[in-house]
Amino acid sequence: MQSSNPTQSSSNGPLDSRIALITGASAGIGYDCALHLASLGARLILNARRESKLTELAQRLDDQYPMSDGSARSVSVAGDAADQSVIDEMMGASAQLTPNSVQTPDIVVVNAGRGLNGSVMTSDTTQWEEMVRVNLLGAARLIRTAGNALTELQESRVWPEGGPADLVVLGSTVGRHISPFSSMYGSTKFAVNSLAEAARRELGPKGIRVSLIEPGIVKSEFQQVAGYDAEKFGDLMDTISPVLTPMDIARSIGFIVSQPAGVHISDAVIRPTRQEYP
Ligand SMILES: NC(=O)c1ccc[n+]([C@@H]2O[C@H](COP(=O)([O-])OP(=O)(O)OC[C@H]3O[C@@H](n4cnc5c(N)ncnc54)[C@H](OP(=O)(O)O)[C@@H]3O)[C@@H](O)[C@H]2O)c1
Repeated sequence: MQSSNPTQSSSNGPLDSRIALITGASAGIGYDCALHLASLGARLILNARRESKLTELAQRLDDQYPMSDGSARSVSVAGDAADQSVIDEMMGASAQLTPNSVQTPDIVVVNAGRGLNGSVMTSDTTQWEEMVRVNLLGAARLIRTAGNALTELQESRVWPEGGPADLVVLGSTVGRHISPFSSMYGSTKFAVNSLAEAARRELGPKGIRVSLIEPGIVKSEFQQVAGYDAEKFGDLMDTISPVLTPMDIARSIGFIVSQPAGVHISDAVIRPTRQEYP
């Protein structure tokens, strides 16, 4: 679900001097995160495989949040977020944005991912490798590449006046509580949750905030891509409604990355109020 309303003016926003890289920005949480961080002043590097969706989003960002000097609000790098060559291209793409005091993305949102209906016994085995590749290996490669770039950035600055550097990782409540109904997907998010906490311990002392976002049920393209049974999922959504929107998650991310450099909200579990489990 994609929000249509800006949530805040783009002038004098808390993220005016920052560049945010977002993977999986063509839909859902990544798309609304791009809109919301732009509303707070950030310029953006957008990634997903569907180039046409990124082009539409980039146009919308320029229409809704024009830069005062007429330059582009965002640059798009279409491609598979699990490919190291695409990751390298994304990390270097800030050079295409207006020159600024920050030349490397200093907010990196590790968001691209997909679900898979079913357990280890029942899920479609032909989709296991693709899911593990994007959810786990893609996330790990981006955490490593961005972690190195952000380390270099923070080493070049005075702490904490130089400002924050953020790695925001999308985990899941099924990466913390075992769901037998989507255990293959859950296993990738258990791994991602563990990588994020380990990266926080390693990079936090260098002035880099690694923040794990663990959403419950968010209505997006996720359910269709995962192959959820529409009727069963509809019943669940009716029972616990309202479920979360992508913008609910985007607002939390905006709040976390807008904190002063010395303040770190390292873990946010965000559920629909009536979702008891997972
Ligand atoms: N929705 C939920 O209930 C929920 C709950 C907890 C956690 N999450 C996590 O939140 C993240 C975003 O989910 P969402 O709900 O926004 O799902 P979504 O609406 O399906 O969006 C997923 C995004 O990831 C992109 N993507 C998928 N595979 C990719 C790849 N190999 N390379 C580059 N981009 C890729 C998709 O774009 P293209 O198809 O254009 O590449 C799309 O932009 C995921 O990591 C998901 O696991 C979601």
